[in-house]
Amino acid sequence: MTGKPYTFDILLDEGTLSNYDNHLVRKLSDLKGYFNDREAYQSMLGVEEAVLYDVYELHRPELAGELLHGISIIHPGKVGSEYFMTKGHFHTVIETSEVYHCLKGEGVMIMETPEGEWAVEPLSSGKVLYVPPRWAHRSVNTGADEDLVMFFAYPGNAGHDYGSIERQGFRQLVTEIDGKLELVKNPRWLRPEER
Ligand code: PA5
Ligand code: NI
Repeated sequence: MTGKPYTFDILLDEGTLSNYDNHLVRKLSDLKGYFNDREAYQSMLGVEEAVLYDVYELHRPELAGELLHGISIIHPGKVGSEYFMTKGHFHTVIETSEVYHCLKGEGVMIMETPEGEWAVEPLSSGKVLYVPPRWAHRSVNTGADEDLVMFFAYPGNAGHDYGSIERQGFRQLVTEIDGKLELVKNPRWLRPEER
């Protein structure tokens, strides 16, 4: 980490950065309870420990004036009919936002507010997505065989709040039915007043 300006390269073909401080690997076993089809999850876990996504980050101080940045790479695949996805989270400082630039692949960002408003935005190479303050966000790779690669940046003081998403997920599941992307109501999701 430095206080001086710097540049780095995104090595798209290798799926990494020319310079990074932290490499996070999220495997199937790290997302226990996240996928709706519990049976498919268990049987898949018995066969292979798939890597669902990688995150490469440059270390910055967790201060409001900083921007934390890096790339996330969500690999292609499904658990049952649900596409591989990130855990998803609110920011601990809920009034903070995030910006994503999709560099490769096909996917969607599924988002929702604590009040139950929700949105889904398609992602493909070149697209920029702005996630406003208060919106939880989860990246989903809906491609058949390609990684979904995105550059992200968010305020240094944002923090990650996984709690409510880990308990009940997002309002919509992103699934493939008969070869097509379909949003399906998440049976575990409760309205704010039912929680
Ligand atoms: O801050 C972000 O939103 C991203 O850097 C994510 O942390 C990354 O995509 C991994 O997702 P998650 O933290 O929900 O596992
Ligand atoms: Ni975030």
